[in-house]
Amino acid sequence: MSPEPLLEVRGLVKRFGGFRALDGVSFHLASGEVLGLVGPNGSGKTTCINVISGLYAPDGGAVVFEGRSIGGTRSHLLARGGINRTFQSPKPFLSLSVRENVEIAATYGNTGEPVDLPTLLASLELDRHAEHPAGDLNSAQQKTLDLARALATRPRLLLVDELAAGLNPAELGRMADRLRGLADDGMALLVVEHLMGFIDKVTDRVIVMNAGREIFEGTLGEATRDPTVVQVFLGGHVPA
Ligand SMILES: Nc1ncnc2c1ncn2[C@@H]1O[C@H](COP(=O)(O)OP(=O)(O)O)[C@@H](O)[C@H]1O
Ligand SMILES: [Mg+2]
Repeated sequence: MSPEPLLEVRGLVKRFGGFRALDGVSFHLASGEVLGLVGPNGSGKTTCINVISGLYAPDGGAVVFEGRSIGGTRSHLLARGGINRTFQSPKPFLSLSVRENVEIAATYGNTGEPVDLPTLLASLELDRHAEHPAGDLNSAQQKTLDLARALATRPRLLLVDELAAGLNPAELGRMADRLRGLADDGMALLVVEHLMGFIDKVTDRVIVMNAGREIFEGTLGEATRDPTVVQVFLGGHVPA
């Protein structure tokens, strides 16, 4: 029997004016599971994370977390309630230090056991930058800081939006191991990423989106053999 899902998304709709960025998306996610969300630019991946994390209220459908309907709940309340996310373009407090950015998240977003922040920063290789202003970090380091900020709130569900972009191959491998490690410790992760090697390493299964709808759910290997996915997402070319 499969475990009770931590997150259930049913028929999710998000409109911008007359345009449906999400047009009836449904999936579920269990604790300890990593679900990849892939698809062409503009297919609705970030919007999906934005709605689940409370940045936008849904225009239709339901988001159920730990058995409670949370659609429309504001993001700072969700952060305290176990859901946090990283941003495709993170916006840390640039003049504050790396340590202070993470402290603020822990202070306002963590209602449980305190997080050992030096250990968290060291685990993300941010310890040597702890006292530097966040504005001194390069974009890949700012994304890692954004992950630290999210983890400082002890999420049970972590939504990750294009974290791997800008990492070098060695950093990519370590980031993939870290995300897997979080799942192995029981966290549920929804991971948006274009780098298929990263998706392959990190995810248990994937959803492929196109134009606000899911067109495939299964393993990445199966997705690359699915004719609709190959046509829509890969433009007819199966990656090597
Ligand atoms: N705040 C917004 N206002 C208007 N349109 C938006 C907004 N956010 C996203 N969209 C539109 O919704 C579609 C999906 O965007 P997005 O979720 O960012 O796609 P993805 O992350 O898959 O690249 C795009 O056409 C985008 O232009
Ligand atoms: Mg996006």
